[in-house]
Amino acid sequence: MTKVCLTLTVLVTALFGTGASTAHAETGAEAWLRYSHLSPQDAKRYERLPGTTILLGDSLLLKTARQELASGIAEMSGRTLGEGVNLPQDGAIVMGKVSDLRAFAPGLVLPPELRADGFWLKSATIHRVQCLVIAGTTDRGVLYGTFALLSKMARAESFNALDEIQQPYAPIRWVNQWDSLSGKIERGYGGPSIFFADGKVRSDLTRARQYARLLASIGINGCTVNNVNADLGILDDGMITQIGRIADAFRPWGVQLALSVDLSSPKAVGGLDTFDPLDPRVAEWWRKKVDEIYQKIPDFGGFVVKADSEGRLGPSSYGRTHADAANVIARALKPHGGVVFYRAFVYNHHLDWHDLKNDRAKAAYDNFHPLDGAFDENAIVQIKNGPIDFQVREPASPLFGGLRRTNEAVELQITQEYTGQQRHLCFLVPMWKQVLDFDMQVDDKSTTVKGLVAGRVFHRPTGGFVGVANVGMDANWLGSPMAMANLYGFGRLAWNPDLSAETIIDEWTRLTFGGDPLVVQTINTMQLASWHIYESYTGPLGVGTLTNITGNHYDPGPESSEENGWGQWHRANHTGIGMDRTVATGTGYVGQYSAAVQKEYESLANCPDNLLLFFHHVAYTHVLHNGKTVIQHVYDSHYDGAERAAEFVAKWRALQGHVDEERYRDILTRFEYQSVEAKVWRDAICSYFYRMSGIPDAKGRVADKGVRSYGENPLTPPVQSDIRPKVP
Ligand code: GCU
Repeated sequence: MTKVCLTLTVLVTALFGTGASTAHAETGAEAWLRYSHLSPQDAKRYERLPGTTILLGDSLLLKTARQELASGIAEMSGRTLGEGVNLPQDGAIVMGKVSDLRAFAPGLVLPPELRADGFWLKSATIHRVQCLVIAGTTDRGVLYGTFALLSKMARAESFNALDEIQQPYAPIRWVNQWDSLSGKIERGYGGPSIFFADGKVRSDLTRARQYARLLASIGINGCTVNNVNADLGILDDGMITQIGRIADAFRPWGVQLALSVDLSSPKAVGGLDTFDPLDPRVAEWWRKKVDEIYQKIPDFGGFVVKADSEGRLGPSSYGRTHADAANVIARALKPHGGVVFYRAFVYNHHLDWHDLKNDRAKAAYDNFHPLDGAFDENAIVQIKNGPIDFQVREPASPLFGGLRRTNEAVELQITQEYTGQQRHLCFLVPMWKQVLDFDMQVDDKSTTVKGLVAGRVFHRPTGGFVGVANVGMDANWLGSPMAMANLYGFGRLAWNPDLSAETIIDEWTRLTFGGDPLVVQTINTMQLASWHIYESYTGPLGVGTLTNITGNHYDPGPESSEENGWGQWHRANHTGIGMDRTVATGTGYVGQYSAAVQKEYESLANCPDNLLLFFHHVAYTHVLHNGKTVIQHVYDSHYDGAERAAEFVAKWRALQGHVDEERYRDILTRFEYQSVEAKVWRDAICSYFYRMSGIPDAKGRVADKGVRSYGENPLTPPVQSDIRPKVP
């Protein structure tokens, strides 16, 4: 007997606000959850899908999963799923935890033990009836399984003989938002904050709910909602109640809320005369504050801390270590199951640039390697992928290989701060994969960065992946529909870093734009080429992104890296360029890697061309492995990159009529803009190098055109909000 209860679906839709069916796909708001109506041919594949769901349990997350399944299937196939308790003769979709499935279907052979949040999709016979099972180790796993099933359907994958186990690579799969209470987002290019406005939590949190849904659909289980440069007011009593409303919006999607906090809070807002992490009054303050937070937000995730960095206060004020600072907070969180992410982005931004031995790249390792083993079990050191700061190309941070008795997380940047700020196409998954797959060769064993951060190499209790996302109020979240491939890609890699960039982009394109072969082929190809293209006109040979680093981190500004304390130096002079980071003659940075990796980077003979200038200072006439001189490579790569960026326009135009008009026009405008920007970059960088080196371009293209005159690109795309930096 089936007890059909359709009204619950309606109720749950109302509770969750906008679901898959109500937003406007053409704006990009639905991102990869468009659930377009299937063609009659594709719909045929799912004709035998059972028409009833049976939920083994009644938790909030399970209800979300059922609602998501019902609305997704309705969107794609027009079918309405019923809700039942007992198995009908024509089968059911059975959703629940593996442990509950055991009781419901004792005859079913269950998969071997899965990790937390893992799931099993199985076409199975239960009590002689054909069913589809979505089982998870946790309720969250059931939700993830549901999204995975819908993704398959949206990409017209068959469910025949379905028997698939998926489990997350690591427990930590979080995003960070750099939102300030004012509503601005630091390095955000998709509009103002979806959480805060005018110093308060927004009254309407519809977007926060929708964001949590997007995050859950790719397996992300935590979100830090405020800037790492934390407002002190974030821990005010009244603010915590308000933050609780954001946690309420996240909860149905299994996304834990976390906060960035300032280490000086016990003094700055707590009224103590100290924030010394070893002072018992400070420990007590953190304990009470954390208890208070958990009273209001029982599933609170924890804190992110940026200390002794870029002007933020830290443990050095009291001669204490970063481990002391992390542990005082970790101990307050421990009884509640919370974690503290302590950022390794600690460096002196007043370095003396005259001293050729100084090197910002060494800072993370120098600061944290000596503390290995001193951090509590629920503290995680959060390490940026490279040793500088999200440049277009950097080697993997040596700190990943330098911590054996400390939990780690890799911090990747989804928001394109140094990679075109969402106005240039730059699909970052290939870059992230290079870092995650990089073999640190610790103890001469295969020790990839992904294995290290997941805690697999040194058997750590926790660890994983953090992405700085910075979505905003713009309808399409990141300011550009194409940039959403980076958020999707981050989530997919955090779930399974063994996925290829090709697989990830193919999934994303099909989900976002549909299965038209021309569309899929064109967009996949453009996205996969885009990082290399952007790199070739902005930051050659590992020199770093040559942006204006003291300004907007966007325009060409190679001079701005030099002669200041920030340490993003490339050391270009009239004879050569590059940072000598070797052990033999340079800063010694190379010595922070294992012996095997040192061999690769220390010598000019072994160092790959694409990181040459990161590790070595060479003459402009130095001949690369590719046979060109450095200077000719710079000229050629800039001309080649600008040309390839311009080709995006024609490639995109070929999709007219194949992509909805609104997104077609929006993206076309961006490519037209980028094609001009790439030439501006080409000319600015080539003339800089020509001035510096005095060596003409063998192909006669380069002249000293002076520095860029700002504001000259007439193709600036429309800005959807006033928060995006003005396009110069
Ligand atoms: C970069 C970025 C800052 C940010 C910092 C960080 O330097 O430009 O805006 O605060 O990274 O990661 O803490």
